[in-house]
Amino acid sequence: DTVPILPGAPSEVWRYTAALMRGPQDTLTSVSGSYPGPLIRLRRGQRVRARLENPLPEDTTVHWHGLHVPPDVDGQPRLPIKPGEDMTVAFDVVDRAGLYWYHPHPHGPNGGRVGFQSYAGLAGPLIIEDDTERALNLPAGDQELILVLQDRTFAGENELTFVDGMRSMMRGFFGDRVLVNGYSPTAREVGTRPYRLRILNGSNARIYKLAWSDGRPVTVIGTGGGLLGAPEQRPYVTLPPAQRIDLWVDLSDAKVGDQLALVSDAYNSGMMGGYSGLPAGARFELVPLHVTRRADKGPPLPKVLDLDLKTSSTTPATPIRTFDLRMEMMSGFSINGRQFQGAVVADDEIVTLGDTEIWEFVNDSMMPHPMHVHGLQFAVIERSKRSGLRGWTGLDAGLVDAGLHDTVLVLPGERVRIVLTFTDFDGLYLYHCHNMEHEDNGMMRYYRVR
Ligand code: C2O
Ligand code: CU
Ligand code: CU
Repeated sequence: DTVPILPGAPSEVWRYTAALMRGPQDTLTSVSGSYPGPLIRLRRGQRVRARLENPLPEDTTVHWHGLHVPPDVDGQPRLPIKPGEDMTVAFDVVDRAGLYWYHPHPHGPNGGRVGFQSYAGLAGPLIIEDDTERALNLPAGDQELILVLQDRTFAGENELTFVDGMRSMMRGFFGDRVLVNGYSPTAREVGTRPYRLRILNGSNARIYKLAWSDGRPVTVIGTGGGLLGAPEQRPYVTLPPAQRIDLWVDLSDAKVGDQLALVSDAYNSGMMGGYSGLPAGARFELVPLHVTRRADKGPPLPKVLDLDLKTSSTTPATPIRTFDLRMEMMSGFSINGRQFQGAVVADDEIVTLGDTEIWEFVNDSMMPHPMHVHGLQFAVIERSKRSGLRGWTGLDAGLVDAGLHDTVLVLPGERVRIVLTFTDFDGLYLYHCHNMEHEDNGMMRYYRVR
């Protein structure tokens, strides 16, 4: 009863073909032939070596999104893998347990190819495990659902199609069907016990508004940088591109035959003749759960998840760096009036190794921008509304700012402050909007750690 959406023969689907190696001879997994890219599981403390081969007709890279790795293995556009060439990268896994991901990051003279290459299949989820998390005894095995959400458009005989025009440059690419792990949403059979849903928004531009079909609150246990200190509840969860969310749901009291679905609303910004590629207000099922069997109750949700969750602290003397997000007349969006210029930084894009800073994103445009910083995890310390840009109010109650993040949604008219510390590695990293079309059209800059 699973109906895969098979791309038609003429579609350009690029399958992920890197090999991950552990130790000198031992291949951890040789991965190919999956859309999206396969799940990679790593352990904290492990050393990873990966051989990345590029059989494509254009440059690519592999970026480890959210991981604290040295700049030269971060998959940045200044270090492309040329067609027909390969590259071996190695790094230590130092991040907290959590759901991260990988995707390409090429940017040539004609703009970025992050959106197209990710769309074509070169992106996938990456999980880091550690003992602290394991000791919590969270739902695992077939009680742990790893879900990659991506909206796509099909034409003809189920051919993947990608429109990269002026409209998508402004609002980003929006598909008219949402796929879960590359498939049309299909029901999963579950038992009467707790489940963990780990969700990556791998879409180019779509923001999801995740809720339960029976109206029960959504229980959040983690974000992109790992587990929260304690669970939090929301009426729905707002998940912008590149963010991950870790949910817990208890079906212990359900009866065999019950059905529950994780759904998303296609909201409408009220701008540009509708925004989302799906009918405004439409609610669509992403993960239907059908209770088909009785099961042991399973452990209750821990009241405290991670006592060691550390975020940088600030003092009144902590410097504040402001980034103004604006729309340019013909060329997309800018950060402090600048667009991507390759591996160059301005004087105000240099930070000091070991320093803690507050970065302030001010959104003076009419589009939401999920702002991403490479190489580290940060905490969101303040979110305020500066002006009355309308149409985006239906997402506020679902924002999860607690915990650690590498990407933060800045809605139109908002000012969001994050605190970050630059540790271990000096050199160039990127910061950018993770609406892939905004990024590919120049809403991206390098910063230097010195
Ligand atoms: Cu998801 Cu610059 O990256
Ligand atoms: Cu990244
Ligand atoms: Cu943007």
